Amino acid sequence: MNQIPVGVLGLGKYVPDTVLTNSDLEKMVDTNDEWIKTRTGISERRISAKDQASSDLALHAANQALERANMKAEDLDLIVVATVTPDMSFPSTANILQSKLGATKAAAFDLAAACTGFIYGLSTASNFIANGSYRYALVVGVESLSKITDYTDRNTCVLFGDGAGAAVLGPVEEGRGFQSFVLGSDGSKGDLLKLPAGGSLHPTSEETLANKMHYIHMEGREVFKFAVRAMGSSAEGALSKAGLEKADIDLLIPHQANVRIIESAVERLELPKEKCVVNLDRYGNMSSASIPVALAESWEEGKIKENDCLVLVGFGGGLTWGASVLIW
Ligand code: ACO
Repeated sequence: MNQIPVGVLGLGKYVPDTVLTNSDLEKMVDTNDEWIKTRTGISERRISAKDQASSDLALHAANQALERANMKAEDLDLIVVATVTPDMSFPSTANILQSKLGATKAAAFDLAAACTGFIYGLSTASNFIANGSYRYALVVGVESLSKITDYTDRNTCVLFGDGAGAAVLGPVEEGRGFQSFVLGSDGSKGDLLKLPAGGSLHPTSEETLANKMHYIHMEGREVFKFAVRAMGSSAEGALSKAGLEKADIDLLIPHQANVRIIESAVERLELPKEKCVVNLDRYGNMSSASIPVALAESWEEGKIKENDCLVLVGFGGGLTWGASVLIW
């Protein structure tokens, strides 16, 4: 069966107004600007308002992506929201977003692959379009990580921020759009990065609250080692699946967790620094929102030109990893 070529028709992003700087964090935990900048590359991050849910962040990004695609919400056949911070367990954030957008004919579901979620979402939605099941899909990566972060734990609270990025996918001309996807997971290492309570294993109780099990738990050093390996090998895997080489990359859009992890990927891919997008200094790690926000921002800044070869690559809790080659 012939596959329909699928690409990005419009991009959008949204970050909340409130800025949490390194010097703000110095007043909250035993840390300092110098440590945070040298160990992570982060200077500040955005924090959502008390009454702002993930679907609210997603709505801004989605509306912008639809407008830039010259489309209406009613045109969408599918909404996939990648998030580990849904508004609630169910209904899905995708369903809540569907209602807020008025995307009346769309099927909608959430997908949880932590920081790799947006790449998993792109892969899933583009397959629906490639095989002719649907024509237009909205993929959103959104997180409200500040709502599951322990601001007394210096090991984690300096890292995370809130935001949303969105892409409208649809048919494109032959030779353009997504050329390949590589997805991977290793559930045996799930304990390295998790939100222990609030699910069926540990329903929220006084005990889970007292033990801070409703916050992100992370073995940072182990995740770091895994990330360095996963970024390089996923990007190389996606390139080879697309029949391309490292030298073909025009722009690398990596997950924004730590500038040292990004630098190691840049080195392995033998890329000049200016071919790699870094915005974690301003936003921190926004998990599934990092890649789409970086993609949307690159487009806004005119860094993406027709026929450019983009490589999107990420890793995250699960553990999960993934990469995609996208010809613009
Ligand atoms: N300020 C000052 N000191 C700190 C801080 C801080 N904020 N945090 C940790 N330290 C201390 C540690 O306590 C440790 O002190 P010790 O040697 O006395 O024990 C020292 O700094 C070094 O700690 P390490 O953990 O070895 O520091 P490392 O260089 O590994 O950096 C970091 C830590 C930034 C967390 C790094 O390991 C990392 O980026 N890991 C990957 C994280 C990641 O990508 N997570 C994805 C999660 S997203 C999701 O799925 C929701």
